[in-house]
Amino acid sequence: MLEEEYISRRRLPPHLQPGVTREAPFEYELRSATLQDLPYVREIYNHYVRNSSVTFDDSPISHAELRRKFAKITEKNLPFVVAVNPSGQLLGFAYVFPWNQKASYRHSVENFIYLGPASTGKGLGRALLAELIDRARSAGLKEMIAVIADKGADASIALHKEFGFKETGHMGKVGFKFDRWLGSIFMTKSLK
Ligand SMILES: CC(C)(COP(=O)(O)OP(=O)(O)OC[C@H]1O[C@@H](n2cnc3c(N)ncnc32)[C@H](O)[C@@H]1OP(=O)(O)O)[C@@H](O)C(=O)NCCC(=O)NCCS
Repeated sequence: MLEEEYISRRRLPPHLQPGVTREAPFEYELRSATLQDLPYVREIYNHYVRNSSVTFDDSPISHAELRRKFAKITEKNLPFVVAVNPSGQLLGFAYVFPWNQKASYRHSVENFIYLGPASTGKGLGRALLAELIDRARSAGLKEMIAVIADKGADASIALHKEFGFKETGHMGKVGFKFDRWLGSIFMTKSLK
């Protein structure tokens, strides 16, 4: 046997070689949100409040405020979907909320979608938004509106475009966060 053949046979298979770490598969289940999910929903949302301009909120949402919002969503039978991993950890959420309190707007909703930072860029946003749209359509809603920051929200804009949302408005410099002016892009999708 040649020396080089001997060496290659002694090499360990890739999964047993030192320093090779295997990433766990990204698995999740989508289900309706419950009251017990709210602390984790709040944790994810407040991460973006504190560290980004994708939301124009600049102070963390309180548990009481989120509970009030959740109560309104459930009272109106609107969809609120969460993604959880096999051990039950909440990875992200998406819900809709009435666009405007005036009665004639009752078929139009605004959508919200936020994933924990470790769960972005893996296709979960696409899965959650698809589920939210399906559920909103089944609930008889007609128009879905996404209000997206015009800076730092490229992933959200690309995701909504992929689902057929069309840009229907752009208000420049209506928000101010982290010492800079921000605008809002309106993207809408007909669910009919
Ligand atoms: C926006 C968000 C929900 C998208 O979900 P995601 O799981 O990261 O996106 P996906 O992996 O499903 O990607 C879907 C598509 O979005 C686009 N996209 C995703 N990440 C992107 C990025 N960083 N830049 C540009 N486009 C991006 C791509 O078109 C992608 O399709 P592709 O994978 O075929 O290229 C998620 O990134 C998130 O929660 N971000 C922070 C909070 C936020 O911005 N919420 C929206 C507020 S309006």
